[in-house]
Amino acid sequence: MAQEGFVLWFTGLSGAGKTTIARALEPILRERGLRVERLDGDVVRQSLTRDLGFSREDRYANIERVAFVAKLLSRNGVAVLASFISPYRDMRDHVRREVTNFIEVYVSAPVEVCAQRDVKGLYARAVAGEIPNFTGISDPYEPPENPEIVLPTHEQSVEESVAAVLAYLETRGLVPRPAPAVGVS
Ligand code: ADX
Repeated sequence: MAQEGFVLWFTGLSGAGKTTIARALEPILRERGLRVERLDGDVVRQSLTRDLGFSREDRYANIERVAFVAKLLSRNGVAVLASFISPYRDMRDHVRREVTNFIEVYVSAPVEVCAQRDVKGLYARAVAGEIPNFTGISDPYEPPENPEIVLPTHEQSVEESVAAVLAYLETRGLVPRPAPAVGVS
């Protein structure tokens, strides 16, 4: 049976764990026989959208271009793992309308936790006023109202988050369940 494409759209604050979970999922989906492509804000912004900044308009343009790519991939049977802050509800709804099998995954660690982690040192700089329009500090984030999946990464491990996404995909029939181990007698 031909693989049905889908888009796992990880949204949440910087440092919430979007990329970490997508990276952990990628090889597992491949092992299950899926063709996978990962799209990541930090990477895409160095190529396809390197002309864009973080104004509201530029964030919309960023997500619009990514939605276009995700649409081409997902309609051709690819499993797309997309990690973008995508802070505005209506920009995520735009992606939902554009692509095949949009699955909104809210990576819900609160700003205090993300700022505490401060993996890239950006929160400290944002709080010091060195980075304007920083999401969660000086720019808005609109949490999803009806996401397909919520991953509270401040309360669960990466493995638990990955398992939750896999369980959802299996229920939807978008990923085959692992083959049972062959008995050795
Ligand atoms: S989005 O808002 O347009 O979806 P995207 O996910 O592509 O954002 O990029 C976010 C990444 O850009 C962050 O993880 C961080 O590394 C970096 N970044 C730099 N400036 C900002 C800013 N002002 N707000 C948020 N992230 C920023």
